[in-house]
Amino acid sequence: MKNLINKAKKTLLGNRKKGYTLPTNNKLYPAQWNWDSAFIALGYSYFNLNYALKEIQTLLDGQWKDGMVPHILFHDTNNNYYPNHTAWNCGNKIHSSGITQPPILSSILKEILDNNKINKNQFLTVKKIIKKIKKYHEWFIKFRDPKNSGLVSILHPWESGYDNSPIWDSPMKKIVIEKNLNYKRADNKVVNPEYRPLNVDYDKYVTIKNKLKKHNYNPKTVFKLSLFNVVDVGFNSIFLKANKDLANLLDQFKLDKTVISNYIKITEKNLLKLYDKKKETFFSKDLRHNRRIYVPSISNYFVLFADINNNIINKKLIKNLKKHNTKSEYFFSSIKSNHKSFEEKRYWRGPIWINCNWLIYKGLKNKDEVYANKVKKMTVQIIEKKGFYEYFSSRSCKPFGAKNFSWSASLYLDLKNNKC
Ligand code: GLC
Repeated sequence: MKNLINKAKKTLLGNRKKGYTLPTNNKLYPAQWNWDSAFIALGYSYFNLNYALKEIQTLLDGQWKDGMVPHILFHDTNNNYYPNHTAWNCGNKIHSSGITQPPILSSILKEILDNNKINKNQFLTVKKIIKKIKKYHEWFIKFRDPKNSGLVSILHPWESGYDNSPIWDSPMKKIVIEKNLNYKRADNKVVNPEYRPLNVDYDKYVTIKNKLKKHNYNPKTVFKLSLFNVVDVGFNSIFLKANKDLANLLDQFKLDKTVISNYIKITEKNLLKLYDKKKETFFSKDLRHNRRIYVPSISNYFVLFADINNNIINKKLIKNLKKHNTKSEYFFSSIKSNHKSFEEKRYWRGPIWINCNWLIYKGLKNKDEVYANKVKKMTVQIIEKKGFYEYFSSRSCKPFGAKNFSWSASLYLDLKNNKC
């Protein structure tokens, strides 16, 4: 499918702006997003290493003084997106949102460096990048886990990257929508509203955001006061792997890794506290209401990506992962399709997402090569059948959301370049 490889490259280049890349070329996402940019950088690394590094540099240009890397950077403020830069009203050198997103960046950077030789100039650029990522991770450790439990919290569903996942239904249930909210959504004008989050959810997202804003996004205060505070197993799995990859990079670049290495040890131990032996499943924890969250989300299997040192649990996870979707379906649906919350078309409540499949594939590679290959083949097939869409039905493979979606193109390039 050489043709499609070229198309993938063209998709990325078509979405590229000055030093960064939009998630898609329509009006749905008119800014730079954190984890999108990381995935996008991986795609560029297969044909333009400088673009890959530039994408990461631009993202880190938006880093806050305290270390946070925002989930959105508004380089171009002239757009219809809501919440826009004024609704957030924050940022360091670049207007931004006041929350973050899954810190996949160090894992992506390590992949890029494993596959490429860099010259002297690029070495210096990468060293600066690594220092900034270290500061980002230290921000998480300090402010998102003040009790040093080894597990970090997210303070807004958007921080997870799986915005309207049913995982958040219970923690969001009690949130009282702020009175007189006055805003206009643009997303459901660009894409069929059936495929997007509901208005009632959006009202709650905006309510949570407004509370964070009211406290000036002060990381200490908002940890205590945010209306939403969840320890999510998928997010923490990504962070654990990201810390392991960062520790490796710090070694390679002769930088101090003490804080990161110590944290990895605590996480390794305490992530297992989110495992329910009887149910053979991981759960997330709503810290705000002190409740466990059991939702059969594909993100529970991101633990495989974290490479925990526990073969028994890894094996059980793989056994159950194989039952996540039944034979006749495409996989992996973001939510197990026999669960009451499953919706075939609605965003993160059922459809297949290429980045989730990619995380699972990477996690399986060193644990079950045969199944890893099957996941890769299925994922590639979906794209070859339908194109670089944002998400897909697990029942019919029907594509939804944005066309020319950058991370679908990018990760296609990566999957096609992976031998196993
Ligand atoms: C949505 C997704 C999020 C993604 C962003 C841009 O908000 O839920 O994961 O980063 O769009 O593509």
